[in-house]
Amino acid sequence: MRNLIFSAMLLTSATLLTTAQNAHASGDVESGKVKAYTCTGCHGIPGYKNVYPTYKVPKIGGQNYEYLVIALKAYKAGERDHPTMGLQAEALSDQDIEDISAYFASLGGESS
Ligand code: HEC
Repeated sequence: MRNLIFSAMLLTSATLLTTAQNAHASGDVESGKVKAYTCTGCHGIPGYKNVYPTYKVPKIGGQNYEYLVIALKAYKAGERDHPTMGLQAEALSDQDIEDISAYFASLGGESS
């Protein structure tokens, strides 16, 4: 009987833990950081305003996670039309998009 209660407790806390993790962004910040390497060439040093000299590029560090996912999927699907970003997003899997978005969203709060 004791064992049964103990297992039930374990199960409950495991479930709580999973729920807590899912409540946040589903992308992985660490792998997003690696995958975002090419993006920062145009989108600037993470956490800072973009300083690319030749044309304007929106600042995406600290941008909302859902916004980034939606924007990237729209570029990928061709719903949002931009030659450069279309090519960038085309190469990304949905998982890449989630990881990269989690990474850029995590940069929020830094002075920019
Ligand atoms: C060659 C330069 C370049 C590279 C590399 C690049 N981007 Fe962009 N990105 C742009 C430009 C220019 C825009 C603005 C496009 C537009 O007006 O729709 C943009 C727009 C965006 C937007 C929409 C921002 C908004 O405010 O709506 C997101 C999100 C984004 N890029 C993410 C990425 C990610 C993630 C990567 C790496 C996989 C990446 N970009 C790589 C130039 C680049």
